[in-house]
Amino acid sequence: MLTRLDPGQKPRHVAVIMDGNGRWAQRRWLPRAAGHRAGVAVLEPLIEVAGETGVETLTLYAFSTENWARPEDEVGTLMQLFLETARAKVPQLNERGARLRFLGRRDRLPASVRSAIEEAEELTAANGQLDLYIALNYGGRSELVDAARRMISDGLAPEEVDEQTFASYLYAPEVPEIDLVIRTSGELRVSNFLLWQIAYAEFYVTDTLWPDFSPEEFRRAVESFASRSRRRGGV
Ligand code: FPP
Repeated sequence: MLTRLDPGQKPRHVAVIMDGNGRWAQRRWLPRAAGHRAGVAVLEPLIEVAGETGVETLTLYAFSTENWARPEDEVGTLMQLFLETARAKVPQLNERGARLRFLGRRDRLPASVRSAIEEAEELTAANGQLDLYIALNYGGRSELVDAARRMISDGLAPEEVDEQTFASYLYAPEVPEIDLVIRTSGELRVSNFLLWQIAYAEFYVTDTLWPDFSPEEFRRAVESFASRSRRRGGV
């Protein structure tokens, strides 16, 4: 079984669209909340296997700017789950050397979630084993709009705005480009995820619903990346 790829081939940054919690629950006649809880249980083994395969940065799409349109009780459950998960898992993540950062607009998040985020970022700031980004109230378009607004408010002249400058105004300018996007539950969509950073990303889409996503399948996705030739517009 593959554990470590040729350093030239392994994806350094993997981003994951964790989709299918609702359907997973529906198929079991369970409430959607049970699907989200089952989805949380996948996170720990995922983070472990990402470290084992040599991934340096992992970005997870936990809640999009569009997700506020879900029923109020589901939004409440998700916020509660983020809070519980942060309380239960951040100390462990800290021990294993993960550095946690959050992407997205924070103003609309409940104050309790905002402070959990800030505490987690502060606690893990000096770690260097794995960079873990959680996209929470995140929208790719909002990120681009926020960057443009800040460039304007900083008084940048049009000729000062090139790709490098633009990238430096994103939520987390230090994030390396994404090599591989994994999307579960079979949807062939980007769903407003990291629009700038996926410019040259490879995609791995699986029909597996998120709560069933296993470390073995993560390894398969990484192997599939390794077998592709990335030309980035060249020959
Ligand atoms: C998509 O499934 C999943 C979400 C909107 C939430 C993702 C959240 C988690 C996996 C749990 C929490 C994560 C962290 C980082 C603590 P869906 O509800 O859209 O499924 P469906 O398309 O089948 O309805």
